[in-house]
Amino acid sequence: MIDSFGRDITYLRLSVTELCNLRCKYCMPEDGVCKKKHEDMLTEDEMIMAVQAAASLGITKLRITGGEPLVKKNILSICRRASQIPGINELCITTNGTRLSDFAWELKDCGVSRVNVSLDSLNPKKYAFITGRNEIYNALSGIDAALAAGFDRVKINTVLIGGFNDDEIAKLAELTVKFPLDLRFIELMPMYDSRDFGEKSFLPVSEVLKALPDLEKQEADGGVAKLYKLPGALGNIGLISPLSDHFCGYCNRVRLTADGKIKPCLHSDTEVSIKGMDFEGMKKAFSETIFNKPACHPELSDSCRSTAGRNMNEIGG
Ligand code: GTP
Ligand code: 5AD
Ligand code: SF4
Repeated sequence: MIDSFGRDITYLRLSVTELCNLRCKYCMPEDGVCKKKHEDMLTEDEMIMAVQAAASLGITKLRITGGEPLVKKNILSICRRASQIPGINELCITTNGTRLSDFAWELKDCGVSRVNVSLDSLNPKKYAFITGRNEIYNALSGIDAALAAGFDRVKINTVLIGGFNDDEIAKLAELTVKFPLDLRFIELMPMYDSRDFGEKSFLPVSEVLKALPDLEKQEADGGVAKLYKLPGALGNIGLISPLSDHFCGYCNRVRLTADGKIKPCLHSDTEVSIKGMDFEGMKKAFSETIFNKPACHPELSDSCRSTAGRNMNEIGG
């Protein structure tokens, strides 16, 4: 469906839960989330109906996000049903990977074609520091399992944090030489309540170009990342720059939160509730909200925080 600025909105990000087994400092509060009432969250049937409504308006790509989608107990059923919805021709999931070794094959069997996994450090102590949990070995085996299960183009998401992982850029990038996976460096977005980040934490992706002078530019693939490759590497290095060079002009996405709010833009506080609606009501809500998708979000910086009004775990990235 075309929005009022001529952008074709074809990509829905569905957050199936706000809960997570990690506590990444840039994403959610240390003491977890205030659990919302069960009856305020979308049911599985409502999620499926919402995807059907979105698909009827031209959504072709669905990404399941969280929180952490693999802590949701009916995640396999959601994926299986979503993958069978006419019009949805790409079903992807973004996960922290810590439970992926148990789920990779079953997700594939349920129709998931691509998996993106978050990994901000290869150092166990640093991983535990940023995620609040000692789970690096589970995350690494999750990445192995994703590769073994044969998903298309497994991607690793690394949030670039000054004074934390800028000294690991080359080591992380080496993963694309050793394994057939893409690694994306993402500029840290200053969310509502993200902890402990001062000016020096916000690094532009140009720091990656400085650290890896051998990178060769690649053709864009339509996603939000600018693509590069190390000579002889198996996978790409992607640079995602929501702060230094935002991509609102060609944004093709809309979001649905676990509590049933359509969010037309990650960094806008506009939310339209579809909780309790029937198919026609959901379709109308998607249609109006997509049409009115804002042109772009305000500039973000350490002093100009996101106006999303939620933390990242409550949106799904
Ligand atoms: P692909 O389908 O593989 O291209 O994945 P993706 O980049 O769309 O999804 P993923 O969940 O892996 O997100 C990667 C990063 O991009 C996360 O940090 C997201 O928050 C960020 N991101 C995704 N969509 C948007 C967007 O519309 N605006 C901004 N500013 N950031 C986004
Ligand atoms: N800034 C940038 N990326 C973030 N993510 C979560 N919070 C932030 C943030 N504040 C990333 C995660 C995950 C993806 C869905 O979003 O690392 O890979
Ligand atoms: Fe959990 Fe992902 Fe947020 Fe980390 S970034 S706390 S893994 S939802």
